[in-house]
Amino acid sequence: MEKQKRFETEVIHNGYDSFKYEGSLVPPLFQTSTFTFATAEEGERRFAGESEGYIYSRLGNPTVKVLEERMAVLEKGEKALAFGSGMAAVSATLFYLTKTGDHILCSEGIYGCTFGLLQLMKEKHHINHDLISFSDEEMIRAGIQENTTCIYIETPINPTMKLVDLEMVARIAKERNIPVVVDNTFSSPYLQQPLTIGCDYVIHSATKYIGGHGDVIAGVVVGRKEELNKIAMTTLKDIGGVISPFDAWLLLRGLKTMPIRLDRHCENAKKIATQLKQHPKVEKMFFPGDPDFPQYELAQRQMKQPGGMISFEVKGTKQDAQQLLNRCQLIKIAVSLGDSETLIQHPATMTHAVVPAEERLKMGITDQLIRLSVGLEAWEDIWEDLKQALDQLPS
Ligand SMILES: Cc1ncc(COP(=O)(O)O)c(C=O)c1O
Repeated sequence: MEKQKRFETEVIHNGYDSFKYEGSLVPPLFQTSTFTFATAEEGERRFAGESEGYIYSRLGNPTVKVLEERMAVLEKGEKALAFGSGMAAVSATLFYLTKTGDHILCSEGIYGCTFGLLQLMKEKHHINHDLISFSDEEMIRAGIQENTTCIYIETPINPTMKLVDLEMVARIAKERNIPVVVDNTFSSPYLQQPLTIGCDYVIHSATKYIGGHGDVIAGVVVGRKEELNKIAMTTLKDIGGVISPFDAWLLLRGLKTMPIRLDRHCENAKKIATQLKQHPKVEKMFFPGDPDFPQYELAQRQMKQPGGMISFEVKGTKQDAQQLLNRCQLIKIAVSLGDSETLIQHPATMTHAVVPAEERLKMGITDQLIRLSVGLEAWEDIWEDLKQALDQLPS
């Protein structure tokens, strides 16, 4: 077996042998929907699984395969599957792990569309869920029901930045043999590898730090081979949320610079957080790298670096929060994150607008909360823009 290299090397080389592809340095783009068989008998053998080879791009594609192999190694899993969006990855995994009458235990605070999916699963398929804070062992134990077949968490949680102690959750889940699914979008495998601390599935909206350039919508699931093979043959193949080969190719290009980009995202975020915290118009700031962050110690233990995401509450009203966004010039008003450009958004009316107001408040999403995805620009320029927008808020 080939010896694994360091993370920064694997993002560039893993899963690809140029000499199998005419020496092409970069994995070729197999932009094809189907693959031809030399004979009818060969087609029969491929469908029967008796002969190696591709059939149809919804079932597998060489460009996508390179991405999947690379992501499996980066997350330290046995196998990865790529999807056409983060939500396709989330839904394929949750539908694979549940059936009517089951229960999902979730972190109190999840991406708005994941919340929407859970509602849909409840209303249409009677798959229930509870959102709990996961802050201590007793609470988690009390939240697990007889029919809980999946624990689903984000950490850091979008957009409140609260953390969940993955080691603690994995340990409790093991006692009851319940799989733990972690949405690792905010961290990327560079900052946090949940499978290495006992979690069972990792999901990414690859749209974010994996792609990193704001030009792809995609998702990835990583885990054990046996289960991922089953997902590939059921909720991926038959529901059909596949990735396009071109998007897989773009993700491979983005991955190469992921560690360098994240170093810069994190460095910039630390500098912006230090400034934000001192600004008189900022009521509260949530950044895992801030020594006053309530879970700073956990962040230090669980994450290699604190990430590039910051949330903060402005003093004033919802209108003040919206005015702040409107006054930004360099910083773009947009949902999504992990891009080169610094992005700002208002979760209560954007990414988490589908969550009813009462639930939103329980999650910590107030009308004054703003989420910032710190980009790769010179941090001084980002801060100057944010500062002039903050300075203009009424006292
Ligand atoms: C934490 C998290 N998970 C999942 C998703 C869904 O990913 P996608 O938009 O690629 O479907 C998002 C999107 O913003 C997200 O922020």
